[in-house]
Amino acid sequence: MNSSTVKALGAYCPHTKVDNSYFEGILDTSDTWIRERTGIESRYFAAENEYTGDMCVNAALDMQKNFNVDFSDVDFIIVASMTPDQTIPNVASQIQTRLGIRNTGAVDICCACSGFCYGLTMAKGLIAAGCCRKILVFGAEIMSRIIDFKDRNTCILFGDGAGCALVERSEENTVFECFSGTDGSMGKELYLSTRNRYVNGAEIIADGMVHQNGRAVYKWAVNTLSEGLRTLASINGITLDDVDCFLPHSANYRMLEAVFKGLGIPMDKCVDSVRRYGNTSAASIPLAWYEGLRTGRIRQGDTLMLLGFGAGFTYSGLCLRNTIDGSRIGQNV
Ligand code: COA
Repeated sequence: MNSSTVKALGAYCPHTKVDNSYFEGILDTSDTWIRERTGIESRYFAAENEYTGDMCVNAALDMQKNFNVDFSDVDFIIVASMTPDQTIPNVASQIQTRLGIRNTGAVDICCACSGFCYGLTMAKGLIAAGCCRKILVFGAEIMSRIIDFKDRNTCILFGDGAGCALVERSEENTVFECFSGTDGSMGKELYLSTRNRYVNGAEIIADGMVHQNGRAVYKWAVNTLSEGLRTLASINGITLDDVDCFLPHSANYRMLEAVFKGLGIPMDKCVDSVRRYGNTSAASIPLAWYEGLRTGRIRQGDTLMLLGFGAGFTYSGLCLRNTIDGSRIGQNV
């Protein structure tokens, strides 16, 4: 079995910063309510003419600038997103041509906020099986296009952004045990559809917007995250105390506080992106990782635990050793 390592990371955040005060102007809500219930202070929205593929290319160019990465021999591209530019062609194919990569597989996967961890898991598997040597995994979303700005329960949560990881075959294995799971019976609690139909007996609203039962999602997420982190520790033969930094999907900072309190883990071991960027779905974990590297919070040699969860309901997690030197970020600006 071939070993793999995550060699480099890249990130992109769109330029328009949206503070909570924006929602005070269009909804019956307040900055205080949003901060108290979610911890979110701001998020960023893509420009009207900006698409998920554009953000992915920018994240890849950021990676190239900081880590002098050569994309010419990338042999697989995985894009995790529920907001692709269009149904076909997929975003991965657009990235292939825009980065000028000649011989590569290109696939989009859709598993909402778990997507980046599913992508890393698939990359590890493709390398282990000997099918590929160098894989780009993207997590990218333009959530601002699929939220109903009249739904105060939902629209205040989300933001736009993109992140990417380069996973390579290597002598030393630094991507350890992983696991994935699903509970499709909860599908009706968090969905987006453009077709009138029923999901598990429940009629769904087909308007192309995200709909959720916030309380049901919250309760499920707290249980899944708590159980998932314990599972990851167990299958990796370590304890939660052995982990240097946790990178859970950044959906709601209060949710993360509840989970970490329940597990007895200090909050300074949790690296989040939600307070600054909102819930950026598949982009949330790479954005948090990147910020952790940039600020020196995550160092080379650190044991990281990543766990994504979201619509489906789906979840996916993995444990790895960080080999990326964060001090390189920003040096070549
Ligand atoms: N501003 C002000 N009040 C709001 C509000 C807002 N933006 N959104 C909801 N409320 C109101 C509700 O209408 C309700 O009022 P009522 O008591 O008069 O009925 C009250 O606040 C409490 O609602 P509740 O749903 O119990 O709030 P909450 O503490 O559960 O927070 C969420 C709501 C959505 C923030 C929270 O449930 C959550 O984060 N859920 C998970 C969502 C998620 O992470 N989704 C993506 C998963 S990947």
